[in-house]
This record gives sequence, C-alpha cells and structure tokens, in this order.
Amino acid sequence: MSKSLSTIFVPALGGAALVLGLAYGLSARSYGDSKIATLEGNLAQSETRENSARGEAEAQALRAADLEAQAAKLQERAAQLEQQVADLSAAGTPVAVLPVASLRSAPDGFGLGRSALPEEIAAWDIDVSPDGTGLPVGSGDALEGEEVFAEKCAACHGDFAEGVDNWPKLAGGQGTLDHEDPLKTVGSYWPYLSTTWDYVNRSMPFGAAQTLEADEVYAIVAYILYSNDLVEDDFVLSNETFAEVKLPNAGGFIIDDRLQSEAHFWKPTPCMTDCKESVEITMRARVLDVTPQEESAEAQAPAAEAVEEAAVVEPVVEPVAEPVVEVVALDPELLAKGAKVFKKCKACHKLGEGAGNGTGPLLNGIVGATAGQVDGFKYSKPMLTAGAEGLVWSEAELTAFLTKPRAYMKGTRMSFAGLRKEADIEAVITYLRSFDN
Ligand code: HEC
Ligand code: HEC
Repeated sequence: MSKSLSTIFVPALGGAALVLGLAYGLSARSYGDSKIATLEGNLAQSETRENSARGEAEAQALRAADLEAQAAKLQERAAQLEQQVADLSAAGTPVAVLPVASLRSAPDGFGLGRSALPEEIAAWDIDVSPDGTGLPVGSGDALEGEEVFAEKCAACHGDFAEGVDNWPKLAGGQGTLDHEDPLKTVGSYWPYLSTTWDYVNRSMPFGAAQTLEADEVYAIVAYILYSNDLVEDDFVLSNETFAEVKLPNAGGFIIDDRLQSEAHFWKPTPCMTDCKESVEITMRARVLDVTPQEESAEAQAPAAEAVEEAAVVEPVVEPVAEPVVEVVALDPELLAKGAKVFKKCKACHKLGEGAGNGTGPLLNGIVGATAGQVDGFKYSKPMLTAGAEGLVWSEAELTAFLTKPRAYMKGTRMSFAGLRKEADIEAVITYLRSFDN
C-alpha cells in the first residue's frame, strides 16, 4: 500500500479519468481501512469499559460493518484499476510516474466520512502535559492508593511497587543511572509526573486499561511517589497540587541534537554494497539470548518438516482406523458468544493449534484439566498448591474462579476482575471446550 500511495503508475497517453479514478480508489481504500481500524479500536475499548452503553457499541458495530462494506467495494474498484494499468503497461503503452499528492487533494474532499463528534474527540483526547494541562479534576493520597494498588497492580508490580519476578519495578533505583545495569523507575528515571499519570490512566492495569476512575489514578500515583520516598503518606495529589511535585531526574534529559551532532555520519548516498572490507560474525543472537525461543515455535517446527516430507514422498494409502472420539455437540450460538467474551481474556491467554503461553497459561483443553499443569508456565504458589491438592477445572470450579478470580483463590496471579454475568461465563466455558489439547 505505501508504495502505491507514494507513486502511481499511469499511462502517459490519454486516460486522465483513469488517473483520477485510480488515485481516488487507492486513497479512499486506505482511508476506509484506517477508518475501520479506528472503529475497531473504539469498539475494543468500549467493550473493556465496564459501564459502556451496550447500545452505543452496537451502533458502532453497525457503522463499522457499513464502512467495511464500502471499503470492500472500493478495494474491488481499485483492484480493477490496478489491473487496467498493468494491462496497459504490459501492452507496451508508455507509463509515467506521478506523485500521488498532486492528485489526492480535491478542493472539497471526496465526500467521504464525517467530522468527529465532540464526545469522540474527548474520548481520545486524554493526554496530560508536564505542567498538568489535561488533568481531570480529582484527588487521592498514598493511603487510598495503597489499597487500590494492592488490589489492581500488586499482582505484577509487587505490594511496594518493587516488581514481581520480571514485571517492571516502579520504585527504587535512585542513584543507579550511571551504573552498568541501571534501574530505571518512575522515581529514578522518569522526568515528569504527568507521564506516570498518563501511563497509568491510559494503559494500566495491564489487560484492563482505562477502567480506573480519576481519583483512583491520583491515589495510585501518590502511592507510587510515596514508594519512591518522594512524598509523605498523607500527601494529597490532585489536579491542584500536581505541579508541586518535581521528579528527581527532571534535569537528566537533553534535547535531541543528533541532526547536528551526528551530521557527519550521514551521506546523501548511503553505501549499499561492500561497505566494509571484511565481515565477521562476532556473536549469535541465539547465544546472546536476544530472541527467546517460544515453545510454540519449537512445537511447530517438526510439524512443518513433516509436511515438507509428506509432499515429497509418494502418497501411500493405508486404511486407518478412525479414533473413537467422544464428540460433544456444542451449541453454535453459545460458542459465538463465548468467542466474544473471550476477547476479555485474549490479552493474557492464547488458544488453538501452535499457540503458547502468554501472560497467562495456554488454555487448550483446560476444561476438565487439573489446575496449574500447563508446561512451561510459571504459576503462582496458590495455583500450584491447588493443582497439587487435586483441583480440577470442572464447569463448577471454573464458574467460581471466573466470577471473582482473586476471591476464589487468594494470591492468584490472574489479575482479572472477573465476569459478572453468569451467561457470559457459561458461554466462555463452552468456547474453551471447543479447544482440546
Ligand atoms: C498483569 C500484570 C500487570 C498489572 C496487573 C499491572 N501492570 Fe503495570 N505493567 C505491566 C507490564 C507488562 C508493563 C510494561 C509494559 C511495557 O513495557 O510495554 C507495565 C508497566 C507499568 C508502568 C511503567 C513502568 C516503566 O518504568 O516502564 C507503570 C507506571 C505501571 N505499569 C503501573 C501500573 C499500575 C498503577 C497498575 C494498577 C492499576 C498496573 N501497572 C497493573 C504489567 C502489569
Ligand atoms: C491480565 C491477564 C489475565 C486475564 C485478562 C485473564 N487471565 Fe486467566 N490467568 C492469568 C494468569 C497469570 C493465570 C495464572 C494464575 C496463577 O498462576 O495464579 C491465569 C490462569 C487461568 C486459568 C487456570 C489455568 C490453569 O492452568 O490452571 C484459567 C482457567 C483462566 N486463567 C481462564 C481465564 C479466562 C476464561 C479469562 C477471561 C474471562 C481469563 N483467564 C483472563 C492471566 C489472565
């Protein structure tokens, strides 16, 4: 797409209508694509927001479907035009290259789309600047923050923001920036508190982004400051006190001046061949361990080889006894609903052939399996203990777990609030059943 957008091949002789049509088709197609991506983003977002109005989501889904249909039509038209151009150049018609920018802007636009509504802009416009511009009204202190943090963040970031396993540490590390292995945290490294506020508000808790209230974010950020010994525990962080807080490393950054300071590296014509006299391999990524090997990739490799072999070997037809499989008919409607509910799990769990562990364990065959047994996944102690004591993920146990994971199993690493509706749980379990080991 990027190539066809920067330049378009058009016949030099005649065909002005074709030129415009092609430009129109291509730019409109990319517009349609990005519009859909945006709408899908909006949809995903509104789904994670617990109290989002369902009606609105459905309206968006309809609009997305509508746009998708429009884009499909445009794509078809663009493909036709591209084919025409290809045919012309194949037939020996001289073809010139025109920059698309000269063709793309029609004075009144192309009559596509509509202006964003104020509430749509407001929903996206959540950034906060270092001076506090963009902050909503609200407040919270470290004591309140500690509670929310314990509930929503500590599973990954530790009770004292010290980090669990390899999850990021949010506190400590002051004075280590000049060490060989510096510990970069909000306290030791981040220049502005606005970044912390914005980051937490925008993207945390991991997997349930933008579910926090403004007051909760203020309280949590106060707690992170407190954990870094930057404020007292009774300090109330609010939109009014925000600008008072200065982070220790605020002066530790410089303006990027590489355009001047590294100008001598740059040449108008970069060397592309034989640029070095001799080339030797000094290290391998595998040894350096920059590319962690995924189990799923390993598991897939032999299968791929087997397929290649099978392609070469003459087919031998052998009667194979059908394995006796107990087939449970799954209600297709429930399955479809379950697939939708599973979107809430997708940030952490994978399903299906060739999938592996993510933040959470691979869930193939989980219904009826013993808890805490997926190969290569690092479970919490409570989950391992439950498995060792014989916990089996029956429908009843799964239902209880998924209703309120952390009430069901204290200390579980699954940082997920739970599914409120029984019907959703039933559906997602049905969906899980459709993936066996
Ligand atoms: C399920 C695990 C998980 C939970 C729960 C979680 N986080 Fe995170 N957090 C992460 C991961 C993973 C990253 C790193 C993301 C990246 O680098 O892209 C991160 C990064 C951060 C960072 C930036 C750290 C840095 O120095 O780069 C902050 C701040 C943060 N989280 C705050 C929070 C807060 C506050 C909560 C609770 C409201 C929370 N997180 C809940 C996993 C989690
Ligand atoms: C934020 C990440 C996250 C989300 C979202 C999440 N999980 Fe989990 N899940 C985990 C982690 C981590 C574990 C391991 C828990 C432990 O070790 O205590 C887990 C464990 C499980 C287990 C037990 C697996 C086993 O091997 O015993 C099941 C079942 C499960 N999750 C189902 C779900 C379903 C269904 C959803 C969606 C409705 C979901 N999870 C959402 C992270 C998540």
